[in-house]
Amino acid sequence: MGKIVIAIDGYSGCGKSSTAKAVAKELGYTYIDSGAMYRAATLHFLNNYLTATNPKDIQKGLKDLEISFQLNPDTGQQDTYLNGLNVEQEIRSMRVSERVSDFAKVKEIREELVAQQQRLGKEKGVVMDGRDIGSVVFPDAELKVFMTADLDTRAFRRQKELFERGEIVDLEDIKANLGERDRIDSSRKESPLLKVEDAVEVDTSNLSFAEQVAQIVGLAKQRINQLENYASNHR
Ligand code: CDP
Ligand code: CDP
Repeated sequence: MGKIVIAIDGYSGCGKSSTAKAVAKELGYTYIDSGAMYRAATLHFLNNYLTATNPKDIQKGLKDLEISFQLNPDTGQQDTYLNGLNVEQEIRSMRVSERVSDFAKVKEIREELVAQQQRLGKEKGVVMDGRDIGSVVFPDAELKVFMTADLDTRAFRRQKELFERGEIVDLEDIKANLGERDRIDSSRKESPLLKVEDAVEVDTSNLSFAEQVAQIVGLAKQRINQLENYASNHR
């Protein structure tokens, strides 16, 4: 069976990464969390007291920024590494969430990370989630999904996730953070978050996790079949 690229974009906390991970597992594809790359870059800048506004800081920060993913044998998940250190937990903290959209606005940082993402997906057979995957990273992706969910649902899900990681955060603070990131991500000049015309919208507010995974796997299989039929009719 031919392999395709699946791009999943959307607002913060609507279920993109957990769904993308499950879809990849079911199809035997590789999952790539582009948000983790922006989060790791942000942590790197914050740890080195570098700003998102000074061009010299940006140049300096990008020079020794190395992000990679490695399989964690205990969890079976890909952990994010920053310059050789496992930062999987740290990049999900509120400290990083509060600043990531400021760093993700910077053209030079985006150019560097987009180039890395394109290299990671060049063999196809990948599911990548983010904000600009269907619009900029893989404009030719065979399946593009735009995920949404209402803000209360998203905040509640994120609170539960943080709680399970040992961080207790007020629901209103999470709502404020998600809302602010959505605002910055959608209004920025460089690759803003938007629903591209050929994306299928999936609203997860009233779906169970299993339902949304099944919906996207179904769309992917449909697309693969269409492409195979087309190829066999044009041989
Ligand atoms: O998981 P959550 O939706 O909270 O965010 P994420 O996917 O981990 O992404 C964190 C932040 O990185 C987003 O709020 C964006 O500012 C930025 N991002 C981006 O600009 N472009 C991407 N392709 C992925 C993330
Ligand atoms: O990547 P994004 O920020 O869009 O969302 P996420 O990091 O996948 O977080 C969504 C959280 O909501 C995860 O803990 C999911 O298990 C949970 N969830 C969901 O995605 N969909 C549902 N229908 C119910 C819960």
